[in-house]
Amino acid sequence: MSKKIYRVGGLFSGVGGIELGFLETNKFEVAWSTDNDPSASETHKENFSHPFFEEDIYSLNAKQLEPVDVLVAGFPCQAFSVAGYRKGFEDERGNVFFQIIRVIQELSEKPKIVFLENVKNIKGHDGGRTFKQIQKSLEDEGYCVFLETMNTFKHTGIPQNRERAFIVGILEGKDALFDLDNRMTSFFRSAFPLRAVDKVNSIKQYLEPGKVPEKYYYREDKYNFDELNEAITKKDTVYQWRRVYVRENKKGVCHTLTANMGTGGHNVPLIRDKNGIRKLTPKECFNLQGFPKDFKFPENTANSHLYKQAGNSVTVALIRKCADVIFETLDASESVPVRGTKYQKNGIKKWFIILIEKAVSIGRRKLGLLRN
Ligand SMILES: C[S@@+](CC[C@H](N)C(=O)[O-])C[C@H]1O[C@@H](n2cnc3c(N)ncnc32)[C@H](O)[C@@H]1O
Repeated sequence: MSKKIYRVGGLFSGVGGIELGFLETNKFEVAWSTDNDPSASETHKENFSHPFFEEDIYSLNAKQLEPVDVLVAGFPCQAFSVAGYRKGFEDERGNVFFQIIRVIQELSEKPKIVFLENVKNIKGHDGGRTFKQIQKSLEDEGYCVFLETMNTFKHTGIPQNRERAFIVGILEGKDALFDLDNRMTSFFRSAFPLRAVDKVNSIKQYLEPGKVPEKYYYREDKYNFDELNEAITKKDTVYQWRRVYVRENKKGVCHTLTANMGTGGHNVPLIRDKNGIRKLTPKECFNLQGFPKDFKFPENTANSHLYKQAGNSVTVALIRKCADVIFETLDASESVPVRGTKYQKNGIKKWFIILIEKAVSIGRRKLGLLRN
């Protein structure tokens, strides 16, 4: 393993969950981050010292940015327009994803790896067309593209059911997978997706010790108190208030924390502690995203902003694990390949699986055509 420190640049960085996961490995430094949300930007700047550009992605001048080894982005998911399908990518400038491509093109050197995070259903979004466009535009820039979904509780043990899609592009050409001399792609394919963990931690270790401020409690004067009181029976279990009903997650993990969970009425994470029924605090939501206990919130930030920032962010521990694989992937490009190493054997195995998958999907498509 080399002692090299690789450089990361972040788009749509929010509070910096992805950047933090990379930094926690001690194998990366962050060259710059960007976002246009003033409150998330404040939180970001409170916790990191790297250059931060609080700017709309559309006006960001990527030519001024230092080149990086890894470009990361948890970008907002939007459908590509119907007109764009017909006319090609030239018409897609309005889509935020295309701004990632613009940044790749404007940097003085293309990042060796692009690491993107999104909601799990980006794969099926708009009948699969959204992902196809993403894949094609990354391939056109020279990347071999992978898409895997992983879940916070399965892959880190942190008790949150958060399934997310991770799109990774490796700058070895779109067909890199079919040539084992492409060392980054061969290694990456052998190590990704991550292996699941055996054990899920208890919710309790993510809760604040002692009594939290009274404002978080739901008392008898709350319009839905009787309903909550009846449904929320267990301690150390997170329930979800879904406007008209309360849901308990049977897997013993917290439901997906969302950006709108602090706005009331919907997706609110609730627990019963010895003082009554209450919402999770913003700090607890950040804890359930794997942020460190000393992650700072700027003074006077409204709780609604903090809930949104936590829900919008990522599970840092999951990103850290991905970053470890990305580090080894980058390192693989610089090491001398040794035929028959474990990763190459795994790579070959996966390569065969992919070939079979491809054959099956072509077969299915052909059958579909016959039926039409
Ligand atoms: C899903 S969140 C990503 C959060 C981030 N991964 C984190 O750890 O906090 C998407 C982010 O994109 C930002 N965003 C949305 N539209 C933008 C735009 N036009 N220009 C710049 N940033 C934008 C939002 O402010 C938000 O922070």
